[in-house]
Amino acid sequence: MIGIFDSGIGGVTVFREILKELPHYSYLYYSDSKNNPYGDKSQEDLFQITENVVDYLVGHGCQIIVIACNTASAICKDYLRSKFDVPILAIEPAYKMVNDTNPKGKTLILATKGTIESQKFRELYQKYDNHHTAIYECVGLADLIEQNKQEEIGEYLKKHLSKFRGVENVVLGCTHYPLIQEQLRGVLGDVKFFDGSRGVVEELKRVIASNSFVPTKLSITFVDSTHQKIKERRFLELLEQSKNSIF
Ligand code: DGL
Repeated sequence: MIGIFDSGIGGVTVFREILKELPHYSYLYYSDSKNNPYGDKSQEDLFQITENVVDYLVGHGCQIIVIACNTASAICKDYLRSKFDVPILAIEPAYKMVNDTNPKGKTLILATKGTIESQKFRELYQKYDNHHTAIYECVGLADLIEQNKQEEIGEYLKKHLSKFRGVENVVLGCTHYPLIQEQLRGVLGDVKFFDGSRGVVEELKRVIASNSFVPTKLSITFVDSTHQKIKERRFLELLEQSKNSIF
């Protein structure tokens, strides 16, 4: 079984890309909405929180773990890899993809405070810096998306991101943000979005092949740390929206 987790339902944006290419496996998705948002937490707290999540997933039979959260990936991946024997895959903001596709274009990177202040992000940014890039810490945005507060999301984007209208590339450096692409376009204009899910899918294919992981009938189990039924409904709805390309 493959375990996937995020601080809530945002990781569905990674999971749906995984399902498009790897539909013949068993998945356990852990939505840690009890600890949402991860983006404002200290490193010590995140180490503890994510270790508990991975412990749960491994304890329930997961042999591969996908961190479908940029914040937890940036801050905890090395720590988690040192604690567990299973392969642990991590996502990163798709800034390299900008470099590969439109390197001179005006770029905006959106992510949580935790991601942007991390050492891993600094290294990534320095490596691909195109000198036309703005970085914005979207404090509180993932939480609004998690709670599906559409009106507040609209106000948030207008208030904080209108000044960036005119950029060409937007790096969605948090797995919740692909869920609001239309609203982002409404404020930023006709931009090109980049997110890190592609990289995770490719890495997962490699890990599955090198571990001779045997395909099986698709099964998806969803667990939320607050046990709210509404989380599962929303998660399944979001999966359903991309159904044609998945099933
Ligand atoms: N979805 C997560 C990320 O990719 C975290 C959002 C949060 O809990 O702050 O960073």
